[in-house]
Amino acid sequence: MPEKPILQVKNLSVEFHTYAGTVRAIRDVSFDLYQGQTLAIVGESGSGKSVTTHTLMGLNAGNATISSGNIFYKGKDLLKFDEDEFEELRGGEIAMIFQDPMTSLDPTMKIGKQIMEVILLHDENADDKLAADRALKLMEQVGIPNASEHFNDYPHQWSGGMRQRAVIAIALAGNPGILIADEPTTALDVTIQAQILHLMKGIQSEIDSSIIFITHDLGVVAGMADKVAVMYAGKIVEYGTTQEIFYNPQHPYTWGLLDSMPTTDIETDELSSIPGTPPDLLDPPKGDAFAARNKYALDIDYEEEPPFFQVSDTHYAATWLLDKRAPKVTPPAAILKRWAKWKKIAGKDNFPKISKSGVPGRKKTAKETASPKSGAELARKDQA
Ligand SMILES: Nc1ncnc2c1ncn2[C@@H]1O[C@H](COP(=O)(O)OP(=O)(O)OP(=O)(O)O)[C@@H](O)[C@H]1O
Ligand SMILES: [Mg+2]
Repeated sequence: MPEKPILQVKNLSVEFHTYAGTVRAIRDVSFDLYQGQTLAIVGESGSGKSVTTHTLMGLNAGNATISSGNIFYKGKDLLKFDEDEFEELRGGEIAMIFQDPMTSLDPTMKIGKQIMEVILLHDENADDKLAADRALKLMEQVGIPNASEHFNDYPHQWSGGMRQRAVIAIALAGNPGILIADEPTTALDVTIQAQILHLMKGIQSEIDSSIIFITHDLGVVAGMADKVAVMYAGKIVEYGTTQEIFYNPQHPYTWGLLDSMPTTDIETDELSSIPGTPPDLLDPPKGDAFAARNKYALDIDYEEEPPFFQVSDTHYAATWLLDKRAPKVTPPAAILKRWAKWKKIAGKDNFPKISKSGVPGRKKTAKETASPKSGAELARKDQA
């Protein structure tokens, strides 16, 4: 694995100011993206996936403030960029594929020419001939059949799927260091999302870009992402390699996402959806934001936010269930099957080793310090 991340997001918090109050959309989000790797950000609607990537590109709405954090891209702090610097960054260094291809295509300009324009804008050594050759090659790379015959077509002459490919070609034309795709099809079209990710990955090795792929569906990224960040209510709740997230998941929210996903490699009797809805970010609940929907919630989940517990060098989860004082719970049957598979893959016990010195980075609560029966609030909610 390459050692130096191309992008480092550290303790990022973003708020929106509205008439109703302050929306705490992103809360203390940190992650790294390595050169040539693919990071998937997965979570339900409203979890903060788009705000995270819009912040990277300086595209947040006017009512947003970044209340804390740093974003380092190739060593430069993006949060210190002015609009001119962001404009240079977008399209060139960091390119985004938006959900609706028509927002990124000019209906009045031939598609080949639109790709050429991006090449000419970002490469001062390119002339028309070179740009046209590269544009044609890109059209071929993204799988436009008989590309040379379609070079002079207009967007309306193409189907939705072909237009989406054109948008990817345009995004790639500036040779971006990072390519971001934010649910590059409508929410329901997960098969097409998977195809697009496959296509992006096919080209990734040739241009050595890193990819951030956003989806609400974990199934889309199986086998294709290097790392997965699971987001809930503005926070990353679990982060790990794709194998760790799929076969050794530790957060009950990740269990819920996996349990609602049809899959061929783990037999399940039925799919279950996560009950309830995410909390209102105008007034996020005290403690763990997922507690109210979590049948494995402990007393402490209603009091105090869980810190990140380290499961492996690459795997973290923010759930009190990983505290060494927490009772062992039995996850859903399908998750047990995943853990069994993990044992075969990794040859490891699924229960992480938590250091004896206690929870890393967690301050004791006043209650814990005061009470000799420290940890009593780590009882199961239903047993309390
Ligand atoms: N301009 C804004 N003003 C107020 N709140 C906002 C604004 N933009 C986003 N939000 C809020 O920030 C939170 C995170 O939104 P975000 O768009 O990042 O979610 P998402 O994970 O991308 O969801 P989806 O899957 O639906 O695209 C939501 O609660 C949303 O309502
Ligand atoms: Mg979104």
